Amino acid sequence: MKRVLEQEIMHEMMERYSTIYFSDEPVAEEDLKGILLAATQAPSAYNEQPWRFYVAKTPQDKEMLMEYMMPSEKEWIAKAPVLILLAGNMGDTHNGLYNYWTAFDTGCAWGYLTLEAQRRGYVTHCIGSFDRIDLRSEFQVSEDLELYGIVALGRPADTAAAAKEKQMPRKTVNAVQLRRR
Ligand SMILES: Cc1cc2nc3c(=O)[nH]c(=O)nc-3n(C[C@H](O)[C@H](O)[C@H](O)COP(=O)(O)O)c2cc1C
Repeated sequence: MKRVLEQEIMHEMMERYSTIYFSDEPVAEEDLKGILLAATQAPSAYNEQPWRFYVAKTPQDKEMLMEYMMPSEKEWIAKAPVLILLAGNMGDTHNGLYNYWTAFDTGCAWGYLTLEAQRRGYVTHCIGSFDRIDLRSEFQVSEDLELYGIVALGRPADTAAAAKEKQMPRKTVNAVQLRRR
């Protein structure tokens, strides 16, 4: 079921939602490249581009990431042909200072990624609940690197259950206005 919006906005924004039903059709290499390219087009503070990705598309690499996920989520995520770990680097900045905007900018990159995936007929679901402390040990990372999410990417499943998925509601623009004292 679709959310009803007061106005038409970008088609991909109106269509996208986080599915738990992926088909096992592979993600075309050219599409994967394009989706990651889209993510890297996000704006960032001082153009630091602090986002970092780890792409798991082999069963072994996917299994490694899934080891750190919750059992309930592993069940459906295993179907997704590609998992992308999204991280952000708070160090290596132009001025040597901690990058306060890393999470903000990496979130924007995730937004670009999911919309480009949608545009190409793919679906995504970002998972933030995984054992980020232990998963860090799989990578040669400095303390400046934060692991934010694991994005499942694939084609939508063509099943009755998938067709019944509902888009999540949103607060109105009015409800998210900051009010001055
Ligand atoms: C950073 C982030 C972390 C998330 N973590 C989880 C998660 O651990 N498990 C889950 O089922 N969904 C997770 N989600 C999906 C959200 O629940 C979902 O985006 C939200 O309910 C809005 O629904 P929509 O994406 O279908 O519009 C996460 C989404 C984001 C952006």
